[in-house]
Amino acid sequence: MADAEVLLSLRKIVKGFGSQKVLSEFSLDIFDGEFFTILGPSGCGKTTVLRLIAGFEQADSGQILLDDADIAAVAAEHRPVNTVFQSYALFPHMSVAENVGFGLRMAAVTKAEIKQRVAEALAVVKLSGFESRKPHQLSGGQKQRVAIARAIVMKPKVLLLDESLSALDHKLRQQMQMELKQIQRKLGITFVYVTHDQEEALSMSDRVLVMNHGQPQQIGSPREIYEAPRNMFVADFIGEINVFDGVVEAENDELSYTVNIGGVKKVAGAEFRLEVGDEVHVLLRPEDLRIEYIEDQPKDEQGFLGKVLERSYTGKTIDTLIALENGNTLRASEFFNEDDPDFDYSINQRVWVSWIDGWEHVIKAGPLE
Ligand SMILES: Nc1ncnc2c1ncn2[C@@H]1O[C@H](COP(=O)(O)OP(=O)(O)O)[C@@H](O)[C@H]1O
Ligand SMILES: [Mg+2]
Repeated sequence: MADAEVLLSLRKIVKGFGSQKVLSEFSLDIFDGEFFTILGPSGCGKTTVLRLIAGFEQADSGQILLDDADIAAVAAEHRPVNTVFQSYALFPHMSVAENVGFGLRMAAVTKAEIKQRVAEALAVVKLSGFESRKPHQLSGGQKQRVAIARAIVMKPKVLLLDESLSALDHKLRQQMQMELKQIQRKLGITFVYVTHDQEEALSMSDRVLVMNHGQPQQIGSPREIYEAPRNMFVADFIGEINVFDGVVEAENDELSYTVNIGGVKKVAGAEFRLEVGDEVHVLLRPEDLRIEYIEDQPKDEQGFLGKVLERSYTGKTIDTLIALENGNTLRASEFFNEDDPDFDYSINQRVWVSWIDGWEHVIKAGPLE
């Protein structure tokens, strides 16, 4: 998205309800045509951000710019923005076609054009032929598609989606994630998707904003967020993470350090300068840990001793819970390979844990500067 232009800009937005401040000086730029996701735990302020963009809430201070113009004074119904809610909010007595065409009728679009645009929107969501059905004759996934069709038929500049797939069961949700992404690509409309589900955020988005307590924590591509979390909140919230606490013992090379983790010395790369004596967290995703039998431990490598607490087969991977002798508990995830003798670990088996140099990700301990 390097050459993308900013379509929507939130500048130092302050928003409170009564004495509770939900957003304080919240700023965010969203590019034209991107699939942008706001990810964070329940109550962190995601819906509030969407409602401000939609015009259902007014900010206490700050600006919202769309195409460089302040939209504070523009009423919700006149903003080129549509929202898809989790609850679908379909009119029960109207047919699918009437539901989808509702906004166009309100905008006094001609009957002929409504018919054509409704047909196009239903084709996009793969519901051609469902025009005369009533909502109660549709499955949950189909209702969700009608809600999406009803929003895209308006050709908004920005489509806001608030936990829009949460009500669907797992398999249907995964299917709809793919479809939503395809719809977004096809139409080129900017999507702002809100979710508390990290898997959903990673699988659909061009960029993700992780927020907590109304504060942006990190913004980046799904890969950046997963592989290079900026702080412990992001590391923890996006999938599983193993944390090794250590102290920088020496600088070996530019941005390469020896970190002492309870007596075990590992070479670790950092993305920023560290000083000798700095306390750090060395982070490893479960799939980046290596487990060996004690007797297979490479002589020239540093690692950790532990024992197997639990093994679970997930279909794709075998996950192992390991108690280290230093008291730490780790989770390792390996692709299932029945020809590998290492897959015979039993509970209480003593193992040696390490990782390939460079696969770690280092962050500074303590609060963010
Ligand atoms: N209309 C409202 N009146 C009072 N408090 C609200 C209102 N809307 C949201 N809040 C509060 O603001 C905080 C953020 O809410 P919300 O934006 O809905 O979070 P999220 O969507 O991330 O779960 C919550 O503590 C919530 O209780
Ligand atoms: Mg919400």
